[in-house]
Amino acid sequence: MFDLDTQSEAAAVARSASADKPTLYAALTADLRALLHHEHDPIANAANMSSLIYHTLPDLTWAGVYLLKEGELVLGPFQGKPACVRIAIGRGVCGTAAARRTSVVVPDVNEFPGHIACDSASRSELVVPLIKGDQLLGVLDLDSPTPGRFDDADREGCEALASVFLDAL
Ligand code: SME
Repeated sequence: MFDLDTQSEAAAVARSASADKPTLYAALTADLRALLHHEHDPIANAANMSSLIYHTLPDLTWAGVYLLKEGELVLGPFQGKPACVRIAIGRGVCGTAAARRTSVVVPDVNEFPGHIACDSASRSELVVPLIKGDQLLGVLDLDSPTPGRFDDADREGCEALASVFLDAL
C-alpha cells in the first residue's frame, strides 16, 4: 500500500546520487501501482499519477494528462503552470503522439514543427499515448526546461507508468 505520510519509494531513489533511470522508474512504477490500488476513477488516478511524476522525476516543468473527448485532446489533471486546454489530433507533440499512437520524444521543442508552447521554459518533451485495448483515451505529457532531457529509458519508464494507469481503469 502507498503510504501518504512517508510518500514514495521512488522519491528516496531519486535523491540517491547513484540511481540510474531504470532503477528510478522501477520504483516509481511500484509506487504508482500502490497509489492506484483499488481505485478506478480516471480523473483521480490521472491526478495522483501527475503529482507522483512531477514531484519525483527531476528536471520537469510540467507533467499531466490530456483526455480524448469528442475527437480532440482536452486538458486533464496536471502539475505545473496552466496549459492550453484543447489540442487537435495531429497538432503539436501531444496531437502527433495521439495520431501516431506511439510515444514521441522531442529533444528540442524548437526543432519540432507545430510544437505548442504552453510554457516558454519548456525545451524538451515526452508524450506517451494512453491506449486501452485499441481505444485511444488520451496522452501522458512531460515537459522539461533542459534540452535532451528525455531518452529511451524515460520513454520506456513512462510507458510502464501509462500501463499501470490503464490497468487500473
Ligand atoms: N507542448 C505540447 C502542448 C501541451 S503542453 O506542453 C503542456 C504540444 O506541443 O502538444
